[in-house]
Amino acid sequence: MSTVPTIALNNGVSIPQLGFGVYQIPPEETKETTLAALEVGYRHIDTAQMYGNEQGVGEAVRASGLDRSDVFVTSKLNNGFHAHDDAIKAFDTSLETLGFDHLDLFLIHWPLPGIDVDFVETWQALEEIYRTGRAKSIGVSNFQPSHLRRLIQETQIVPAVNQIEVHPYLAQEDLRAVDAEHGVATEAWSPIAQGLVLDNPTITGIASEQGKTAAQVVLRWHIQRGDIVFPKSVTRSRIEENFDLFDFELSDGDMGLITALDKGQRLGPDPDTFNYIP
Ligand SMILES: NC(=O)c1ccc[n+]([C@@H]2O[C@H](COP(=O)([O-])OP(=O)(O)OC[C@H]3O[C@@H](n4cnc5c(N)ncnc54)[C@H](OP(=O)(O)O)[C@@H]3O)[C@@H](O)[C@H]2O)c1
Repeated sequence: MSTVPTIALNNGVSIPQLGFGVYQIPPEETKETTLAALEVGYRHIDTAQMYGNEQGVGEAVRASGLDRSDVFVTSKLNNGFHAHDDAIKAFDTSLETLGFDHLDLFLIHWPLPGIDVDFVETWQALEEIYRTGRAKSIGVSNFQPSHLRRLIQETQIVPAVNQIEVHPYLAQEDLRAVDAEHGVATEAWSPIAQGLVLDNPTITGIASEQGKTAAQVVLRWHIQRGDIVFPKSVTRSRIEENFDLFDFELSDGDMGLITALDKGQRLGPDPDTFNYIP
């Protein structure tokens, strides 16, 4: 079985650099699919209140027979719950739905800079949760440099991670550098751009030279950049393929060729203007 490297977060907690994402996995399929990922060897699962499938994640961890302490589980606060008391209640509901007594990582899913509740208030709620030990680490998602800088200036705990959209068409060199400057680990969401980058000739060319697939080359690019990734798939063969990244290496030249594919193309919304509340 492949050995997945770990990254040390700024509070000393270790996170497996490769995990499994469950966005868009239907709730009724989540237990079975997550269990397949745990069987393949993944020990890090990324879910969110918004995905509606936390229950299946909790069931899969229990059904796997693994110790809870052997699986790193992340969830994220939904957009409607940014007010302090709502955030605490929503966190409690996540634990209940998952059937856990703690989360390894809990994130503010979106900064929502245009809503009435300032994300600084939301973060203060997460700081309180962290101090109780029920979230072993806390972080943010989709925070732009200005959001991150303000949070760090106005609150006490520096986020452990910033989970942002990153793939070869959105390499995010600047935001990753801001994260690194503040000791915040970058997590790359939609790491293979939901499949969009897989027929790019630069990537398929490197893949055929390496005897690996395009998805493996892109995921390996993330790993060598030092980002944390959690590709999603409901397909067993792809779940296995995406875990098989540790028997080859990309040269500096190939790393550079992939980074140069950046064209600032987002799949998701722009965090500066996204203020959606369900
Ligand atoms: N914080 C946020 O705002 C945010 C936003 C989006 C995502 N995320 C997180 O990031 C995770 C990953 O992102 P994502 O799910 O958007 O996209 P992704 O992992 O980049 O891509 C998933 C898509 O690619 C397909 N796929 C997976 N492996 C493949 C392979 N080896 N070859 C060909 N196709 C493959 C999957 O198809 P099948 O499933 O049909 O196999 C699925 O359609 C999410 O699950 C979630 O945990 C976070």
